[in-house]
Amino acid sequence: MLIAAILLGAPGSGKGTQTELLCDRLGFSRVSTGDIIRAEVKAESSFGLAVKEYQENGELVPDSLVCSMVGNRIRKGISKPGIVFDGFPRTRFQAEELDRYLNELSGAQQIIINILVPFDEIIDRILSRIGCQQCGKVYSSRVDNLAEGEACPACGATLVARSDDSRDVLKVRYDIFQRELNPILEYYEDRVINIDGRRPAEDVFLEVVKQIRIQNVESFNA
Ligand code: AP5
Ligand code: MG
Repeated sequence: MLIAAILLGAPGSGKGTQTELLCDRLGFSRVSTGDIIRAEVKAESSFGLAVKEYQENGELVPDSLVCSMVGNRIRKGISKPGIVFDGFPRTRFQAEELDRYLNELSGAQQIIINILVPFDEIIDRILSRIGCQQCGKVYSSRVDNLAEGEACPACGATLVARSDDSRDVLKVRYDIFQRELNPILEYYEDRVINIDGRRPAEDVFLEVVKQIRIQNVESFNA
């Protein structure tokens, strides 16, 4: 059976970083709703124009818009070993919709991981995050010894901070995350696996892979 790894966690908890590792090392495909939204905003598509204000202000894009985007992606098919959902679901409604989409595909083994990081660490990570405008790689000025305006080690393009990574917008994003998390956890009940996200990214990744193996021994043979 296909694996659907669902990564929950606060802004800056490391969802994107773990998604990158799952894709690079284990061949997962990805649905990173935040990345898709930012790309659409940058391209000034009709979807991008409709969601721009929400994204810039750190508010959730309406469920109907995000769900149809994700539903379309899933219906195109998922190849083995599976897919990672980074930043989706963000509401209980989205979690219910995701179940529906995956069931349409005659099911997938869902592995729901909640990455836990305390707020003081979240602030440090968000304020030191820089990313490549071209290849999308994400770095930390704190961990990677790079600064905004420098060249991306992977492709040479300029590194920039995300426009929603200010203190003020982070507060909005974090408050929304806290408000919406409990209804999602209640929906998933005892299926959620909590992982300590304070450790180095490689250690968190080992734990993620371990949990995927435990839950999906049969079809996971990486
Ligand atoms: P989105 O892009 O998903 O933002 P987010 O959830 O706030 O999460 P982040 O991307 O900020 O953090 P992350 O957990 O990916 O951390 P990362 O790995 O980068 O969404 C943005 C916006 O889009 C939303 O505000 C909303 O408007 C909209 N949106 C998106 N999805 C939506 C949905 N489903 N419904 C409605 N609206 C939606 O790591 C952060 C930093 O820490 C990096 O610098 C990284 O290098 C570093 N780092 C990572 N792991 C570690 C580690 N273990 N130790 C030390 N540093 C680390
Ligand atoms: Mg992210």
